[in-house]
Amino acid sequence: MPGTPTVRLAFGPNKYAAYHLLLCRWLRQYGIRDQSYCYVTLGGTELRDITSLRFICEGLTSEVWSYEDNAGRYRAAEATALELQASGLQVRLQNAAIWSHQRQSDLPHIYFVDLLGICAWGDYNLRFGEMFQNEVIREGDCLIITSHLGRNPGAAAIRTQFSGEFDVLGVNNADAESVRNVFRRAHPSMTLFKALSLNGIQSELALRCFGAVKYRDGSPMGIYGYSIEGGRTDLSSFVQDQDTKYFDMTKGRLCASAIF
Ligand SMILES: C[S@@+](CC[C@H](N)C(=O)[O-])C[C@H]1O[C@@H](n2cnc3c(N)ncnc32)[C@H](O)[C@@H]1O
Repeated sequence: MPGTPTVRLAFGPNKYAAYHLLLCRWLRQYGIRDQSYCYVTLGGTELRDITSLRFICEGLTSEVWSYEDNAGRYRAAEATALELQASGLQVRLQNAAIWSHQRQSDLPHIYFVDLLGICAWGDYNLRFGEMFQNEVIREGDCLIITSHLGRNPGAAAIRTQFSGEFDVLGVNNADAESVRNVFRRAHPSMTLFKALSLNGIQSELALRCFGAVKYRDGSPMGIYGYSIEGGRTDLSSFVQDQDTKYFDMTKGRLCASAIF
């Protein structure tokens, strides 16, 4: 509404602690020293994740695209982007959906799809599917997704959404606790698997979840990190990967997958 002041989106330290932990794990496992990267992220108003990445290494922000589909927040982000520009960092800020991103360089990309909602409902599977199919996200990239862990949709809705995946994974549908646990630790993974399956490209891209961190920032949230390589993604190996590490930011320690 014209004249309505924009509420700035300021997130707390837990969010960034969680994000930084995942980044460390990705950098250690997959990051290539001296490689330049293109960073594609969601805007908000403060662009704090961009500042973090810049601090770690300027090469991680060789190119930066920031998408914000909310007009008011976009205006606030413009002011932040100007401050970053004054410090030597050019952010290509777009008042558009991140799904419209087109790959413009051959640099490996780091995507931070820093959602406010839950990466399970709506058309996330279609949207990610298009990005994989069109090689907007491709091998050599890193994908980090934030997803809300509250607003409990209930076991029935979860069973309906992921019935096919639960069959393959052997999840006992009658056990509400198992349904809830697999949902909490793996709903973005199952959404990404749907994205691959929709396009029949499970045998072209190998997705691995290198870690997931739960934290509280007013609400319970989860942040999930994925490497994208050439190869094949098998749903069971993907979701039950023993190398996926889980961390509970509230307790400040590793967490068993069964209680994520
Ligand atoms: C969690 S905030 C981003 C915060 C930012 N990463 C930071 O650390 O400062 C997410 C923002 O993305 C916007 N958004 C959500 N989905 C989007 C989409 N598909 N495309 C573009 N913007 C989106 C929301 O309006 C919100 O302002």
